[in-house]
Amino acid sequence: MCGITGYIGTRDAVRTAVQSLHQLEYRGYDSAGVASAAGGCIRIVRATGKIAALDALLEGSAVTSGAAVAHTRWATHGRPNEANAHPHQDCLGRLAVVHNGIIENYAELRHSLRRRGHEFASETDTEVLAHLLEERLRTSPTADDLLAAVRATAAEVTGSYAMAVVCRDLPDTIVVARQDSPLVIGLGAGENFLASDIPALLPYTRSVLVLEDGDVAEIGPNRVRITDAAGQEVERKPMEVTWDASAAEKGGFTHFMLKEIHEGPVAVRETLRGRLMADGAVELPDVAITPEQWSHVRRVIIVGCGTAYHAGLVGKRLMEELLRRPVEAAFASEFRYSDPIVGAGDLALFISQSGETADTLAALREAKRRGALTLAVVNAVGSTLSREADAVLYTRAGPEIGVASTKAYLAQVAALACLALYLGRSAEASADARAALARSLAALPEALAACLDRSDEVAAVAQALGGHSCFFYLGRGYDFAAATEAALKLKEISYIHAEAYAAGEMKHGPLALVEPGVAVVGLCTQAATHEKMLSNLREVKAREGTVVALINDSREAPPEVDHLLRIPETHSALTPIPALCTLQLLAYYVALARGCDIDQPRNLAKSVTVE
Ligand code: G6P
Repeated sequence: MCGITGYIGTRDAVRTAVQSLHQLEYRGYDSAGVASAAGGCIRIVRATGKIAALDALLEGSAVTSGAAVAHTRWATHGRPNEANAHPHQDCLGRLAVVHNGIIENYAELRHSLRRRGHEFASETDTEVLAHLLEERLRTSPTADDLLAAVRATAAEVTGSYAMAVVCRDLPDTIVVARQDSPLVIGLGAGENFLASDIPALLPYTRSVLVLEDGDVAEIGPNRVRITDAAGQEVERKPMEVTWDASAAEKGGFTHFMLKEIHEGPVAVRETLRGRLMADGAVELPDVAITPEQWSHVRRVIIVGCGTAYHAGLVGKRLMEELLRRPVEAAFASEFRYSDPIVGAGDLALFISQSGETADTLAALREAKRRGALTLAVVNAVGSTLSREADAVLYTRAGPEIGVASTKAYLAQVAALACLALYLGRSAEASADARAALARSLAALPEALAACLDRSDEVAAVAQALGGHSCFFYLGRGYDFAAATEAALKLKEISYIHAEAYAAGEMKHGPLALVEPGVAVVGLCTQAATHEKMLSNLREVKAREGTVVALINDSREAPPEVDHLLRIPETHSALTPIPALCTLQLLAYYVALARGCDIDQPRNLAKSVTVE
């Protein structure tokens, strides 16, 4: 998500940290800032927008030796403005903190810190770290004191973090900590570097120490001391980075799309974090819909474009199943011009990764104008859609760079499942049904990791399919909803004609197109319709189409298939998540075999802000 860099040594610390930040620009961000500790004070410079704006503010400023930490923020709590940009400070201005990740218990911490007299200058979760540290630091602290304060603060917060702290009394120390969010230290001679991602270090050093979860480290120009969560000193062996800078930006992956597919487990885990509780209950403290408002909702209408619409198709089934209220799904471009029958008593739900898609925005305005209650399921915090809707549920997939949406879809479906559990928490759905869904939801990150472990098998199937000129993706129920997105992925990046069909409709027309050279991917994960799907695939086989079946691990391989893709068992309503992880990989490897421009497919844009 966000980016962290830091420097300590004899160079201009501020400029070095900011230059290093430029290497992380590919990740996407909305503001940037830097803090230095030198000459007994902390100096902070922050700007909204690009790092170039920060560069401009720093132009002509004096050289700062000492320690500096810098940050690019991709908003998760609070809007993308200067007040929310990192670094954040304590009340006394003695220290500055940058942070990546999400502090789950920030609301309680903020509340109790306020009661103890702390004043907050931002809406961020990060700022609680600065105030918690303030309470633990005595006057004239040593590096050991700061290390102990960071360790104690880390123990008090729940969630994910990579944090870096500088203190005005300690110009030769940066203290860092990590939990579920990457942080690496670059080793130099008489200087050391810090970053959330290796590319930021490559202009300076290739010798890198990768911190592990629970590590808290103290960094000086000539020292790196790492302790575990219990305060015991630990040794981490430096590694030598051999990748070039552009490969490093992609974390060693050949394309952003592949990297983002591999970020699926994290995207889903972050989306569930602090919302899906250990007992299966769902809490959505950030969604401003009261039980009273929900009690008046008679119907839900889900609206979006492209991948977001396809996530909505899964959401439609899921919500109907759990809420037993009518749910419709519509393309935003159709909805806005359809003179829609929508108004009081309707919850209109708008799904969007960017929050800036022109049709989705127009549809939202139309629904609002007609009196519907509106809720946006959005990835980009502070986007127009999130500002204009009555309530927002953020997916936390992190920035997505590849034009073809991957991890955002997984996070959207996970968010919709959370929403369904939340809205269905009263009598409508049985407690057992909700508990089963919640259990499967919690297990999704592991299921996705298992799908990714099978990448080689998927690549081998893709290799065999690359020469086909036409693909059908067939499914029933949730599998049909998943098929729509799978077909979109393939056509977007491989330029092969691909269509999704409700399997039962095959006989009503498309079967006429099946012949050698046509591939049919049957999604067969739904127990209730498994046999019917197999008959559909048999019909394809009889006409010499190539048959690929996607099945659950527990199923035996059906005899009529040419290729098999397997996914771990999950709740029937959630199968689109592991299924898409596998089928995104399939599309990726087919496009790779055909030599396509995967991250920027022809004629397509990441965010469609015009009609
Ligand atoms: C474009 C993108 C798709 C995306 C769609 C909707 O077509 O290429 O990946 O699904 O817009 O975008 P949104 O940002 O509203 O989710």
